[in-house]
Amino acid sequence: MSSFVVQHNPHVLPAADRERLMADPGFGKVFSDHMAWAAWTPERGWHDRSIRPYGPLQLDPASAIFHYGQEVFEGLKAYRHADSSVWAFRPEMNAARMAASATRLALPPLSEGDFLDSIQALVETDRDWVPGGEEQSFYLRPFMIGVTPAMAVKPSRHVLYAVIGSPSSPYFEAGVRPVSIWLTRTYARAGAGGTGAAKCGGNYASSMAAQLEAESQGCDQVAFVDAGSPASVEELGGMNIMAVTRDGELHTPQLTGTILPGVTRASILDIAADHGLRVVERRIPVSSLLDDIDAGTVAELFACGTAAVITPISQLKDDSGVHRVGDGQAGPMTLELRQHLTDLQYGRRPDDRGWLRRL
Ligand code: COI
Repeated sequence: MSSFVVQHNPHVLPAADRERLMADPGFGKVFSDHMAWAAWTPERGWHDRSIRPYGPLQLDPASAIFHYGQEVFEGLKAYRHADSSVWAFRPEMNAARMAASATRLALPPLSEGDFLDSIQALVETDRDWVPGGEEQSFYLRPFMIGVTPAMAVKPSRHVLYAVIGSPSSPYFEAGVRPVSIWLTRTYARAGAGGTGAAKCGGNYASSMAAQLEAESQGCDQVAFVDAGSPASVEELGGMNIMAVTRDGELHTPQLTGTILPGVTRASILDIAADHGLRVVERRIPVSSLLDDIDAGTVAELFACGTAAVITPISQLKDDSGVHRVGDGQAGPMTLELRQHLTDLQYGRRPDDRGWLRRL
């Protein structure tokens, strides 16, 4: 039984309003009636595990989160299957990554049991908020913040953990429409020994100026390169990147400690063999990637992540110009992998790898 005690929201949204919001929710714009909650101090460890009414938090303005960004988060989805049951996809991986991110940010790791209990209890309480439309899901956003009010730069002794949930459509509004990518040389996302492998707000905050640069270049998303020589492709602002070669290989940047170890990334690498693909995790120098795109050796390119699922990339752009991938349309292997992944998540194919967890 879950250790999260439910305090019901006396002001839940009327069903008609909820259904109206859920008809076309967008991504992460609408939030359900409750949130999961826990607090930590060195003396008490994790305590106050509860499900509470969703609402504003009152925090001391001196809290560490506001000044030093002591924060980590996760992103995972709950999927409604045709029989109305609700499932999470590999949530144990999110639990493990959140614990690793917390350790990097000097926050107290939450146990896998508490992480899974918190999402289970929130989904049980707000089950009506899990949408059942095409490609819709209940996006779960667990996060942890340091809230000790002090100006000294040291780990908080008061920490909050919460999970909010949002009925959502895919991240990219146009679904599987291919996106264009700007390769920035102005900005870097992470360096050796930094926080690149942690899912912390700072990584995303620092990607925003680069994203604006990409948009000013007429592109949808930004891609970062590393500081190596030759410079190699790392990841996009909030997604990993993969290339399908003409001779049946799936290439993706290796995990060097500067790249986020994506759950979707790991899952695609696992199912790739079912599609006759050989997986190659390696450093991918930008110059050779652009040459391979121009020569057609790289036939398809896509972005992947929980929010993005698998999104085709139509072109890479940098100072050398525009490099169109294939014919600029979603490639057949990209669509095949996407279908496989979403069929698993929505229960349309057998869960032969035991990746789904009933909520
Ligand atoms: C996710 O894919 O869940 C993320 O956290 C990335 C963000 C761009 C929404």
